[in-house]
Amino acid sequence: MGAEKTGWVRAASRRDVTEGEVLGVEVAGHLIALYDVDGAIFATDNICTHAYARLSDGWLDGEAIECPLHAARFDVRTGKVLDPPAVEDLKTYPVRVVDGEIEIKLD
Ligand code: FES
Repeated sequence: MGAEKTGWVRAASRRDVTEGEVLGVEVAGHLIALYDVDGAIFATDNICTHAYARLSDGWLDGEAIECPLHAARFDVRTGKVLDPPAVEDLKTYPVRVVDGEIEIKLD
């Protein structure tokens, strides 16, 4: 419904993401990770920029997600690399919550 026009697409129910947790979802063919950091939702690509691992299989510590494969860490708010071996930042997406649904804005 209008996703092509506005770019906002439903990603999950707000209640599906619990505080301090990461959830992997597929949104319009994109693998996305959703994070709840102290009650605020953030969204990034779910695939690590280093090799191939799902960040949703990793560990969220505050605002840092740790990759389960080689332990690179990223700031989920900005996508910035915090710790190697990753060197490339993660792509992030704008997030909003509408009527209990998490929506992200794809390009
Ligand atoms: S795949 Fe994530 S750190 Fe290597």
